[in-house]
Amino acid sequence: MAGTPEFREQWSTKLGLILAMAGNAVGLGNFLRFPTQAAENGGGAFMIPYMIAMLLIAIPLMWTEWAIGRYGGAKGHGATPGIFKFLWKNPISKYIGVLGLFVPFVVLCYYIYIESWTLGYAIFSLFGVLPHPDPSLPQNQYLKPFADFLSWYTKPSFVAYLFFLITIAFNAFILYKGVSGGIEKFAKVAIPTLFILAAVLMIRVILIETPNGTAVQGLDFLWHPDFSQLLNPQVWLAAAGQVFFTLSLGFGAIITYASYIREDDDIVASGLSSASLNELAEVILGGSIAIPAAVAFFGVMNAQNVAESGAFNLAFVSLPAIFSNLTGGGILGFFWFFLLFFAGATSSVAISMPVITFLQDEFKLSRTVAVTATVIFTFLVAQIPIFLPKALDEMDFWAGTFFVVLFALLEVVVFFWLFESKKAWEEINRGGLFRVPRFYYYVLKFVTPVALFIILIAWSVEMFPKVLSTTSMEAWIARLVMIFILLLLFFMVYLASKRNGETA
Ligand code: PHE
Repeated sequence: MAGTPEFREQWSTKLGLILAMAGNAVGLGNFLRFPTQAAENGGGAFMIPYMIAMLLIAIPLMWTEWAIGRYGGAKGHGATPGIFKFLWKNPISKYIGVLGLFVPFVVLCYYIYIESWTLGYAIFSLFGVLPHPDPSLPQNQYLKPFADFLSWYTKPSFVAYLFFLITIAFNAFILYKGVSGGIEKFAKVAIPTLFILAAVLMIRVILIETPNGTAVQGLDFLWHPDFSQLLNPQVWLAAAGQVFFTLSLGFGAIITYASYIREDDDIVASGLSSASLNELAEVILGGSIAIPAAVAFFGVMNAQNVAESGAFNLAFVSLPAIFSNLTGGGILGFFWFFLLFFAGATSSVAISMPVITFLQDEFKLSRTVAVTATVIFTFLVAQIPIFLPKALDEMDFWAGTFFVVLFALLEVVVFFWLFESKKAWEEINRGGLFRVPRFYYYVLKFVTPVALFIILIAWSVEMFPKVLSTTSMEAWIARLVMIFILLLLFFMVYLASKRNGETA
């Protein structure tokens, strides 16, 4: 029956829940995206807009997502089309919720491919397959074999495709085992492992000293504040964007995880704990590996070029080049890429869950059928970013950035305005180990939605002309596929509501 809470899985322990949520948030973004964004946007000064966005947008939004999820779960629904109809009794609300399926699914289809590179590179490092150039070569020639290797690998090579298949099978394996038996168990192993590997790498990196520089200079470069950057609105947008991405907000993924929490369990403190683990992984560990290593090795000027050439180059070109020159470099490289693989896998299972949960809750499919359908569909759509690299950028722009901010804004409006602020506030605080300071009531009601709206507009004005002028065939294929996915999801939501005897 529609809306009747039937048996739904639950996280088995509080620690498991916090680690699973930390796994959701800790991802490639912490170790690659964060340090390159910070280096490009004012270094230490980047942390000012970062902290402000964290306190005024991300933390309140995080509580909102946990609360929406737990509320929906208690009613038997863990994906936003099913949940929103209880929050706002209007036939449109479930269609707004479609974004909570679209965003994670489309991002999954390219995220999992990049995750598979990290697995491939972990194995290559271990077996010494990566290039071994002569360290006395000048920097541009030294990096070239690594850059060539990456472009050969991602073309895609046969090996890359094989690792993609292994990665998708690994994800499917965890998902088949379910919430507590799969995701929670995996997070309990992956998160501690990942922290240990990152700590080992951080210590090793701090000790790097070459004629070009030291890792400490690297820390100085990354954290040295350039306050003049604070006048630049793009720095603020970048900080807000990073905070969203790293905490997995606006993706529907936190909401779905939260739908498996017990009805009266605390979310206030658990939410903060998992966000703190994410920040530890991001600011301390993520900030102390890639950039300091690059500076120690190539000097500040060159490291800056490396950071500006993007997160992928830093991860897959510069770092293997650096490790290849250190004793035990193969093992260090393995640690680095395996850490990224675990970070990626705990996030890709999270973005797989909204669609799986939707199929289970709304169509009453068994977990096995829901996971199989989702994995097959992911496999098919993933062919597009695999074979058409420009399509990946296009998907990342729409699903991974624009719709994320839009959906976050809609979430807050639905929860805090349409569901009603007082009820929303009580939902957040119910069962909490402590109450959220009253100040946040006003933040959630006014500051967060207004800030999100400004970001959405500012950012659209900046990006739309650039993106829409892309007329490549690959970009168009990506756009058409995304439209198709969106329509398909709308249709499924329509079918689900018919099936459950509601007004479509
Ligand atoms: N937070 C993840 C990262 O930092 C990315 C992600 C976003 C994962 C949304 C799941 C959902 O890489």
